[in-house]
Amino acid sequence: MSNKNKKIQNRYNRISKVYDLLEKPMESMSMAKWRKKLIKRIEGEKILEVGVGTGKNLSYYPEKTNVIGIDFSKNMLEKARDKVENRKNIKLIEMDAEDMNFVDNTFDTVVTSCVFCSVPDPIKGLKEIRRVCKNNGKIIMLEHMRSNNEFVGKFMDIVNFIPLNIWGANINRQTMKNLNKAGFKENDIEYQDIWSDIVKLIEIRNNK
Ligand SMILES: C[S@@+](CC[C@H](N)C(=O)[O-])C[C@H]1O[C@@H](n2cnc3c(N)ncnc32)[C@H](O)[C@@H]1O
Repeated sequence: MSNKNKKIQNRYNRISKVYDLLEKPMESMSMAKWRKKLIKRIEGEKILEVGVGTGKNLSYYPEKTNVIGIDFSKNMLEKARDKVENRKNIKLIEMDAEDMNFVDNTFDTVVTSCVFCSVPDPIKGLKEIRRVCKNNGKIIMLEHMRSNNEFVGKFMDIVNFIPLNIWGANINRQTMKNLNKAGFKENDIEYQDIWSDIVKLIEIRNNK
């Protein structure tokens, strides 16, 4: 793993103890509702969740699905394990999203939420998702990103160093552009703005 990745991994290992507590206000305001909406969109039985973190989406997966959750932070995964002790259909693995240990075309649906703000090389991570998701499979994402509003976008650039240093998360990622750079075609991507133009629910048909 590169030094850049180790640095972000260490930040998540450090914040893991208080992560759920810090996120609680946002969770109760709207995130929990958006997570439910996201997971309702899964298709098929073989599901991969990338950057599963402390496992906040895990309770929404139906029993009939086989879910693998990966994350490169051991401590975040430990918190997720506490949440799924009795769920036999959920497996959690320490793995780098930029270099996944799965063969091509493994999953029916790949899920991410608030992950592509943090993956150190987002294009590499998105290319990996494209590779491990089946041809014609689905990728669903709940992601925040840089606003297209000139003033708001610039402000996000200026203050980005704060969450990046505390958490490991960027608030100014250009995730829609990164999807195109990773090879996803414009026509295969649908999205809804769910909070201003900053938080989006994205659905991609993985036409390879
Ligand atoms: C902001 S947290 C979001 C966690 C969770 N998805 C959620 O919705 O609460 C971002 C997560 O992505 C993980 N992450 C970032 N880059 C990664 C990478 N290259 N490989 C695996 N996990 C990564 C971090 O360790 C962290 O747990």
